This record gives sequence, structure tokens and C-alpha cells, in this order.
Amino acid sequence: MADRTYLVTGAMGCIGAWTLYHLVKQGERVVSFDLQERGHRVDLLLSEEDKKKVTFVSGDLTNFENVNNTFKEHKITHVIHLAALQVPFCRANPILGAQVNVVGTVNIFEAAKANGVSHMAQASSVAVFGPPSMYPPGLLANDAPHAPTNLYGVYKVADEGIAKIYWQDAKISSAGLRPYTVYGVGRDQGMTSDPTKAMLAAMAGQPFHINFGGKQQLQWASDTAQQFIEIATKPRDGANIYNMGGVITAIADVVALIKQVKPDAQVTMNETPLNLPDGFDDSELRKHFTVYETPFEQGARQTMEAFRSYLAQGRIKVN
Ligand SMILES: NC(=O)c1ccc[n+]([C@@H]2O[C@H](COP(=O)([O-])OP(=O)(O)OC[C@H]3O[C@@H](n4cnc5c(N)ncnc54)[C@H](O)[C@@H]3O)[C@@H](O)[C@H]2O)c1
Repeated sequence: MADRTYLVTGAMGCIGAWTLYHLVKQGERVVSFDLQERGHRVDLLLSEEDKKKVTFVSGDLTNFENVNNTFKEHKITHVIHLAALQVPFCRANPILGAQVNVVGTVNIFEAAKANGVSHMAQASSVAVFGPPSMYPPGLLANDAPHAPTNLYGVYKVADEGIAKIYWQDAKISSAGLRPYTVYGVGRDQGMTSDPTKAMLAAMAGQPFHINFGGKQQLQWASDTAQQFIEIATKPRDGANIYNMGGVITAIADVVALIKQVKPDAQVTMNETPLNLPDGFDDSELRKHFTVYETPFEQGARQTMEAFRSYLAQGRIKVN
């Protein structure tokens, strides 16, 4: 094992739990930081043996002392900063959203600075961009102008800006990733969680209505976690931000695949697309890093098989 210790913020979340899973599998030392020490997503993904290899810290990202003490006590060398409130939670509580998503990011950079950590990875989002009508047709470039249409996107724009200033003023380099729609075990909350919720409902024999249509890039949570580990582990100078990409998939094809796996599935969908371009150009990410891109059909089938087995064991419930 290299002499490094990863801090994963928001580790009880979907991408966070997958990040713990992969770091443990890779034999890395890892400290989990979240409001709660344990959570249902980690219980689904990590065996009891694997959980023993993680140091679980309960802390509040909005509290600088909590964050700074964690860096200090655990001698953090690598950071994957994922903790945030997603779109509906920012909409419901804009003040808390700003505290977690913006002040929390400043706290992480400040703690990195105070503890001599010179690089970090953080989660941005395609929500920094605006409606498709604003942009030329085709995949949206990495450096297309920001035009967020909700507070969550505004906070993510701030996070990208914060990263630039910490590179400029403190020479802390960073890499931000912009996922689109993450799916997989553990994706049970947030605006774009419907495709995964539909998979779970179908496997449980319950009806589900996906609240949007159109086309998107769907990224498997397992791949997304590995991508975060990759960009956290291979520092590059600057405050670099990368679109994630992938094959553009119609939500109608997601529904069709669910029905192939579970022919009696009662999954319906709204025809209205999200107010975002269909796809994002990830050539900048590809230029510098290995890209994790399990085909959607494979990731979705694995997810549904996992749900089938969790349901049979009574380890998961449909919300
Ligand atoms: N899931 C997606 O499709 C998607 C798309 C684009 C960007 N992202 C970004 O990726 C990151 C991870 O997403 P996710 O789907 O795993 O989110 P999630 O909602 O599943 O998890 C977020 C985690 O952050 C934790 N958290 C919230 N407030 C906190 C606080 N004050 N202190 C410590 N922890 C706190 C929560 O407890 C939760 O475990 C987020 O930054 C999100 O904005 C996700």
C-alpha cells in the first residue's frame, strides 16, 4: 500500500459508498466523513470484513473544526469531496444547501491548506450548464459557458470557482468531475434517481413512474467512484474540471431494458426531457485519465440482479 490516506466526504451517499468499496478493494487506507457514521448504502455494498478496514468519522462539513480535526488526526493525504445536498434538498432548504455545498467546500480547501494537502478531487455537476437552446448542437464542450437554472447548479459553479482561487492563491490543485445521471445500487435520492428507483420497483413487482424523458448520459455509480479515485490519485497542476461522458441513452430505452429483464414491470415515464443538453464531451477527461465506462446495459443488468438478491434477502426496501 502506498503511504496515503484518503478522506471521502459524503461517504454514506451513493457515490461515496461506492468510493469506499473501491478504495478498500484497492487496499487503500480510507477515512469516511459524513453526518452519520454508518448508513444503508455502505451496508449494502461493503462486507463486514471490508467495513472493518474503513475508519468511520461522523462530522459536519459545515463545521470547520470537525473537518480540520479529521484531516489532522488521520493524517489525510488524498481527498475525494462528495458531500452535498442534491437539487431537491437545495430547493427545500437553500440556506442549508449553501452552507453544505459552498461553505463546506471552502472548509475542505481550508483544511487541505492547513494540513499540507496539495491536491483534491471534488464533485461538480452538469447542473452548472443551462438549457440546450443556449448551446450549439452536439456534445457540450468542457468549457461551455455556465448557466445554471437552479440553486444547486449555482452552488456547483461557486465550487468550481473556489477551486480556481485555491490554485491561484495557495497552489492547491484540484480536479472536479461533472457527472450527469448516476445510476446503480445506492442511488435512491435526488432529481435523477428515477431510473434506478424504477429498476428497484420493477424487481420488487411495484409500479414506478419516471418523471422525465428525453436522452441523457447515464453513468454507473461504480464507474463514477473509480473515476473520482483516478482523478484524486493523479494530480495535475491547476483547478481542472472534467465533464463525464458516455453513450447518450433515451429514457425510453431504459424503460425497455427494465422490461426485458422483468417482463411484467409496470414502469412508465414522462415525455418531458430535463432542461439540459443530451450529452457532454469528455475528451478532456480522456486526454489525461483512464475512463471508466461500463456499457449501460451491463451496469443496469448488474444493478437489477443486485436488487433481486437484496430483495430476496430482505436487505432493501422500495421507498
Ligand atoms: N448522483 C448524481 O447523479 C450526481 C450527478 C452530478 C453530481 N453529483 C454530485 O456528486 C456528489 C455525490 O452525489 P451522491 O449521489 O452520492 O449524493 P448523496 O445525496 O447520495 O450523498 C450525499 C452525502 O452527503 C452527506 N452530507 C450532507 N450534508 C453533510 C454535512 N453537512 N456534513 C457531512 N456530510 C454531509 C449526506 O449525509 C450524504 O450521505 C454530490 O456532490 C453531488 O452533487 C451527483
